[in-house]
Amino acid sequence: MSENANDRMDKLTALCKRRGFIFQSSEIYGGIGGFWDYGPLGVELKRNVKNAWWEDIVRRRDDIVGLDCSIIMNPKVWEASGHVVNFNDPLVDCKKCKARFRADKVFTVIAADQNGVVLQAGVQADSAEQAREAASAAANSKTRRKLEHAADRIEWTVFRADQRPEGQVCLCPNDGAELTDARKFNMMFKTFVGAMEDSSSVAYLRPETAQGIFANYKNVLDTSRIKLPFGIAQIGKSFRNEINPRNYTFRSREFEQMEIEFFCHPDAADEWYVYWRDARYQWWIDHGLTSSKLTLRNHEPDELAHYAKACADVEYEFPFGVSELEGVANRTDFDLKAHQEHSGRDMTYFDDQTKERFIPYVIEPSGGIDRGVLAFLCEAYAEDEAPDDKGKMQSRTVMKFHPRLAPIKLAVFPLVKKEGMPEIARRIYQDAQATGMTAFYDEKGAVGRRYRRQDEAGTPFCVTVDGQTLEDQTVTIRDRDSLAQDRIPADKVVPYVRERLG
Ligand code: GAP
Repeated sequence: MSENANDRMDKLTALCKRRGFIFQSSEIYGGIGGFWDYGPLGVELKRNVKNAWWEDIVRRRDDIVGLDCSIIMNPKVWEASGHVVNFNDPLVDCKKCKARFRADKVFTVIAADQNGVVLQAGVQADSAEQAREAASAAANSKTRRKLEHAADRIEWTVFRADQRPEGQVCLCPNDGAELTDARKFNMMFKTFVGAMEDSSSVAYLRPETAQGIFANYKNVLDTSRIKLPFGIAQIGKSFRNEINPRNYTFRSREFEQMEIEFFCHPDAADEWYVYWRDARYQWWIDHGLTSSKLTLRNHEPDELAHYAKACADVEYEFPFGVSELEGVANRTDFDLKAHQEHSGRDMTYFDDQTKERFIPYVIEPSGGIDRGVLAFLCEAYAEDEAPDDKGKMQSRTVMKFHPRLAPIKLAVFPLVKKEGMPEIARRIYQDAQATGMTAFYDEKGAVGRRYRRQDEAGTPFCVTVDGQTLEDQTVTIRDRDSLAQDRIPADKVVPYVRERLG
């Protein structure tokens, strides 16, 4: 990560803690790697992301229905899906410090000139390019000078720990010692169901919500009178025992997914794949992610999962690098076929118009809610200037969330705590609450400081009740981003805000 990006991430994580967006899980005991808690503002933001998705995907469409499955399922589900055998990450251990890394995320970087090795290091990175940059940046100043001066004579060798060339040694990012060969590590969390703790009672915490949908596909079909093409949507927790949880909440061990399994005729699958790929990409833009930071990356044929015919990732340019937010895959009939074979249940669909019986293909848009929240936080973070109580410009930190996602929609302030202003302000606040709008009432401190607190929370509108309100029942309403202040009738505040929520 560049110094600037590092700095931006540090400022964002500090704000998230200070203002109650995100806390480290069990922090009072030193925390636990890969687990995070959402504070009062964070939980509202996260809920708004889930609600926006659910509204757009389930409630406003008539070809998708919702589902909420258990996290622990019969372990045969995970045998059929291939997770027991295939859900592995390659890992390597340091022979000296015993640290463990994902082999596909550890690179050994060697730079040599005609006189021999100039630099040799192990680094954690997402690509060879990133690894080379990180190793150069971490080198001492003498080595960096050498690399710069002899740039055209330097020969670089960069390889991943799971792609070690014959005769090379992989190096530990912590202490430079040798790493072991890569071996497989199953990422599903195991537990036991019932009183016996033996192999007959082993169960898994689901690593994706998708399999619950496949296991219920027939139940939904038989009970909802829905016809192909149709989708089943689910939001829920998933668990993966990630070897290296990192980049804040980006790679966690417990996270939430929002997944759609969209069932269609095999002949229509290519068309639906393109539809969903483009629709999901657009959804992120519509909710405030800048299109210049979002990319839709089609997988190369050698990248495709064994069950996928096509796959594209919606990727976002986080401060720590470009990474996946959501994947859209054409999973073919792989999952339904596998469950038909393992369970013995018929997974075919009968089309009563064409009299055709077949196993549907599935298009799967699968997004991460925590990654979405992190992207919205990164996108929203801004530093600019706003006038203080005396009209002097001061620097401010502001979270420019899309109004639909903002944790608090409206803050209401009486200018002073007397002359009937608190009563009027409270009435506006209660009116907003009564319509289900998240609102905040604040009567403490200078009004400029109250604005600043709401800017950091990302509140799009602040209303102030002042002396003029007592005369003509109007209030000022301030826009978080433009800082423009409109004067509107006090009884029009709620519809004014509602109209602008998007
Ligand atoms: N059912 C398909 C599936 O689970 P995936 O690409 O493994 O596909 C889908 O996961 C999404 O879930 C990812 O795009 C990402 O947003 C989120 N996700 C996956 N692993 C995650 C992790 N360790 N922490 C946070 N989010 C994760």
